[in-house]
Amino acid sequence: MSETAFNPVPQHIAIIMDGNGRWAKERHLPRLAGHNAGAKAVERTLKAAQKAGIKILTLYAFSTENWSRPQEEVTGLFKLLEQTLDRYTQDAAKHGLRLLVSGARDPLPPSILAKIDHAVSSTQHNQELTLNLALNYGARQEIVHAVNALLTQGKKQITMQDISAQLYQPQLPDPELIIRTSGEERLSNFLLWQAAYSEFYFTPVLWPDFDEAEFNKALLAYRGRKRRFGGV
Ligand code: FPP
Repeated sequence: MSETAFNPVPQHIAIIMDGNGRWAKERHLPRLAGHNAGAKAVERTLKAAQKAGIKILTLYAFSTENWSRPQEEVTGLFKLLEQTLDRYTQDAAKHGLRLLVSGARDPLPPSILAKIDHAVSSTQHNQELTLNLALNYGARQEIVHAVNALLTQGKKQITMQDISAQLYQPQLPDPELIIRTSGEERLSNFLLWQAAYSEFYFTPVLWPDFDEAEFNKALLAYRGRKRRFGGV
């Protein structure tokens, strides 16, 4: 690492995997072909993260707003996600992979909920890398869900710690780095609470082209950032 390394390797990286549709369009392929290629980029990224010593990877796989896509695309994406969950659950022990899923359960179909529950419980003791899949995830919904849980407990006044404790995965530290591919530079309802002090890295690379070299570029950029957390 060069003299510009101010930060240690981050513990937690979150990624907005964007550009599958454009990748497919450039090749005159259906959008689902882009998502399939995106699933391969997920595998490359998991390997790169593990190699770099990252402990937690949160991936934005399906947002609460993604339901508005054509039915065929939503069905195809869920099929791909189910296949991926199955495969990762089978291979998880070999790679020390622990699976978590963040998002609202409603209106996910019972078949996928059963797969999620099985994946989460059967990998809970794996310790190398935690893959936190944001699935049917929306950050505003997550915060509202947390506040409602606190109201149900009868709280009249709440603290920041109270909200943090009611997020979908309260045990995870906030991501030090958030990556978004495809040249878009916005959060799109992703980790609004947890991103308070995250560093952002935007790249024009489309998600299906994302690989270890791109991952390491983001890591290097992060390590060169001066993080002040509001101080001087
Ligand atoms: C954004 O590209 C991508 C998604 C909405 C879904 C992400 C899904 C995958 C990467 C596939 C598999 C995931 C896992 C975890 C196995 P887009 O369709 O919005 O692209 P566009 O902006 O170019 O249209």
